[in-house]
Amino acid sequence: MLMNDYIIGNQVIKVKSVDSTNNYAAKLLNQTKVPFGSVIMAHYQTSGRGQRNSVWSSANGNNLLISVILDLSSIPPSKIFYLSKLIALAIKSSVENIIGNEVKLKWPNDILVNKKKVAGVLIENQWKDKKIASSIVGIGLNVNQIDFSGIKSATSLKMITSKNYELDVVLKLLCDKLNTYFEKLINFDYKSIDNEYHKSLKNINTWCDFIQNNNSFNAMVKGVNEQGELMLEFRNGIIKTYELKQITQLI
Ligand code: BTN
Repeated sequence: MLMNDYIIGNQVIKVKSVDSTNNYAAKLLNQTKVPFGSVIMAHYQTSGRGQRNSVWSSANGNNLLISVILDLSSIPPSKIFYLSKLIALAIKSSVENIIGNEVKLKWPNDILVNKKKVAGVLIENQWKDKKIASSIVGIGLNVNQIDFSGIKSATSLKMITSKNYELDVVLKLLCDKLNTYFEKLINFDYKSIDNEYHKSLKNINTWCDFIQNNNSFNAMVKGVNEQGELMLEFRNGIIKTYELKQITQLI
């Protein structure tokens, strides 16, 4: 049982079509008393949103499009990036269970199988008096879609295994994993989250190509710090940190 006394996925609110499950979750949080741990699930999003102001598109009824509403009031704001790490780990673990193969993470929280993205995460936090009042964790997991209209970097569970999956079964597994990993955060077990995240990070301790302001450069991935910044080491031994807005890692 979680210390916070709620279980992720106890309540699942299903909607056919919505602009974005993250927006819907934010409205519910503002308007009504939606319990923490609630999951909003949509079959279709008319304005699905991704990281860096990108669009997240998904064929109707094919994939998992969810937002989870979490209470992070007991977590110090300085530790908020651990939420991002644990969500990525929970998705990784779910996908590994399903496909029976290794899954890698790409900073900050892309979930990759064979260098292709199977899931993405968009976390939006609500702040109150300099504390995190609540978090909306949007997860898009590609399940049964096989045509991504030319997006070569996308994959799905079906593309990997040639099988179809019931979205409710995938959701149940994911919620179980989210509960397991969220408990680590509630118990302030930052070390085990960090260790597992760094072990799962693609290209850790290897030289990779990055783009900053249209210029490409090569550096070694050293990890992700507590602020969620990527730590890169250069050939001259200097280590620099980067925020998500600053650089793009080429897969
Ligand atoms: C990314 O760019 O990798 C993040 C993608 C997050 C997509 C999910 S789908 C459910 C939720 N609602 C949204 O509008 N976005 C997130």
